[in-house]
Amino acid sequence: MTPDRPSASGADSAPRTGVLFVCLGNICRSPLAEGLFIHRARKRGVLDRFDVDSAGTGGWHAGEAADDRMRAVAESRGVVLPSRARQVRDEDWTRFHHVLCMDRDNLDRVRTMGAPEDRSSLFLSVLGDPRRVEVPDPYYGGPEGFELVWELADRAVESWLDRLAP
Ligand code: 4NP
Repeated sequence: MTPDRPSASGADSAPRTGVLFVCLGNICRSPLAEGLFIHRARKRGVLDRFDVDSAGTGGWHAGEAADDRMRAVAESRGVVLPSRARQVRDEDWTRFHHVLCMDRDNLDRVRTMGAPEDRSSLFLSVLGDPRRVEVPDPYYGGPEGFELVWELADRAVESWLDRLAP
């Protein structure tokens, strides 16, 4: 959850496109994707078109800030990760038009939990590279895993913004 994110719709504005990034713990991959998307959408001047959030299929880290290692990688590139972890919930499947999952396990989980097939997909599908469809979980690995999350999310966020706010 991002404290300053725009609301789902304003009384005097068009409905926003809901984008939810999902991983397992909501402390590494999905908060990075959320923070990057907000940062880049703001730079493009289109942030007010979106309702952006992230969540985990697991709830063990609910309420926690993003992992220090992920925040350090983001902050070294000028991107702040303001979100606090939360677990996905039923209302997400109507609030968000795009439920973008970091790997197949989490895509399977959100669908089992009720996410419609036409609203849920793999975050990296937008890159169109069949050899790289998942963002690997960096949590138990070394620093290179967090760098890889950045590299993949950097490219995918740009492509999602090109698609959703051309
Ligand atoms: P994330 O990484 O899904 O990218 O947030 C993980 C964070 C925590 C755990 C697993 C993955 N965990 O097992 O606690």
